Amino acid sequence: MTEQLNRLDELILAAKQASKHAYAPYSKFYVGAAALTLSGIIVSGCNVENASYGLTICAERNCLASAINQGEQAFSIVVIYTEQEVITPPCGACRQVLAEFLTSSSTVIGVNHFDQQKQWTIAELLPDAFTPKNLYE
Ligand code: THU
Repeated sequence: MTEQLNRLDELILAAKQASKHAYAPYSKFYVGAAALTLSGIIVSGCNVENASYGLTICAERNCLASAINQGEQAFSIVVIYTEQEVITPPCGACRQVLAEFLTSSSTVIGVNHFDQQKQWTIAELLPDAFTPKNLYE
């Protein structure tokens, strides 16, 4: 955990940079996410909205999908960056997807432009989550 947190500055920077690429013309709510893979790679993603609003994909899910497309499926920490006074927590759909690829004790950190942070475990975000284990047991 300490080693992962040592890379927190890098993760925050990656999430911040990703938020600059967000396509959010409707909400103007620009989100960036960055994930640290167990192999030590940092992958990022931003939210991508659509004129058909319901097709919007959040930054967290784009981040994980992008990592999976690079052959990475295991993550220790995810950072969510927004320039909002109130730290942005992951939405419900993203909590479910995060729970698929992170362990219940893994860390998700929300950060804003004042460098204020809020930290959760996956278990706190989605208690008693339905995960692959439920299908395989
Ligand atoms: N959004 C994210 O990217 N992640 C979240 O966890 C919360 C919401 C995006 C979706 C939409 O583009 C905008 O923020 C407003 O809901």
